[in-house]
Amino acid sequence: MGRAERVVLAYSGGVDTTVCIPYLMNEWGVKEVITLAADLGQGDELEPIRKKALTAGAKESLVSDATERFIEDYAFPSIQANALYENRYPLSTALARPLIAQLLVEAAKEYGADAVAHGCTGKGNDQVRFDVSIAALAPDLKVLAPAREWGMSREEAIAYGEKFGLSLPVKKSSPYSIDRNLLGRSIEAGPLENPWNEPLEEIYVMTKGIAETPDEPAYIEIGFEQGLPVSLNGSVLAPVELVSQLNTVVGEHGVGRIDMIENRLVGIKSREIYETPALLVLILAHRDLESLTLTADVTHYKRGIEESYSQLVYNGLWYSPLKAALDAFVQQTQARVSGTVRVKLFKGTATIAGRQSDKALYSDELATYSSDDRFNHQAAEGFIYVWGLPTRVWSEKNRQG
Ligand code: ARG
Repeated sequence: MGRAERVVLAYSGGVDTTVCIPYLMNEWGVKEVITLAADLGQGDELEPIRKKALTAGAKESLVSDATERFIEDYAFPSIQANALYENRYPLSTALARPLIAQLLVEAAKEYGADAVAHGCTGKGNDQVRFDVSIAALAPDLKVLAPAREWGMSREEAIAYGEKFGLSLPVKKSSPYSIDRNLLGRSIEAGPLENPWNEPLEEIYVMTKGIAETPDEPAYIEIGFEQGLPVSLNGSVLAPVELVSQLNTVVGEHGVGRIDMIENRLVGIKSREIYETPALLVLILAHRDLESLTLTADVTHYKRGIEESYSQLVYNGLWYSPLKAALDAFVQQTQARVSGTVRVKLFKGTATIAGRQSDKALYSDELATYSSDDRFNHQAAEGFIYVWGLPTRVWSEKNRQG
């Protein structure tokens, strides 16, 4: 008896997920492997990938165009939450995993599979995100993770594939491990494993090096409706189109690179490089618009929510009750977050140049230092007396003591 009869495998076309196909069948007794490649705007041609899975022995090879769902249902809510893990990483990879898990579960139902599978190793966050998301969506579905158990090096995995007639040309062997989708790229391993090594320019694809960026700044205007990005430079754009266009212009100015030592859920510190041009600028602009349209207490309280939200998403708890509760909080705050933010892009920096909103809580008459001022200055004295009273009392008692 094998571990499962029919399995839907998350498939990227890479060495590991390709080797998973014969491995599942020959080592784990799986009768049928159905592969599922998700298009999340990574820019790969999916037809060759689809065929490759069939060559490797898949019974069916599915391709799912999920870019719209990815941006609308996963990326945009996290922009509303200003989600940055450890204050820096906008979760470009982490957001994709719960969606892929959902696609696997949907395909498993449709094809009557008794398990789903992925090619993650035991050292990363992605395995946690897949396994926990699947547990949340389909608690009875088995999850198989061959690469977590097989103990093969990359060379051994290639040799294993060759035993089954798979030619897996390691294309001019890149030392890096890369994940990519429309939101960005993550680059790990190779020379980057030494935190002291500066990343080589060659690793970047979505962002230009400063030396290559234009000598004139660009100003862009991002329009938001209820916390969701809706337009770029006055043109209303569908979410995927907006993110694509923004990636191009922001990347052109060298904005969106991150180099950090990151704390993985599994306890390992790892050196991670990201380039996430549009996503970073959208969060920057969104947060700025919130500063104009939310009350002080909501803004301050939301910071804590954002921190928890980012950790939850990073740690694979997208489909959890706490995440749903945090979502409800975030949604409740977004009704007034509509307006336009003007961003200046120049030589690797994105700076807010201006913001405006019909829903602004900003009051000229309160803020101004001119004769239009209608703030009640005298009222400040009584306010300060009461505000400072506990401190005054404390000080008096301490002096006596
Ligand atoms: N460290 C990032 C994260 O945990 C990126 C992971 C990249 N994943 C990959 N399979 N290469 O979200």
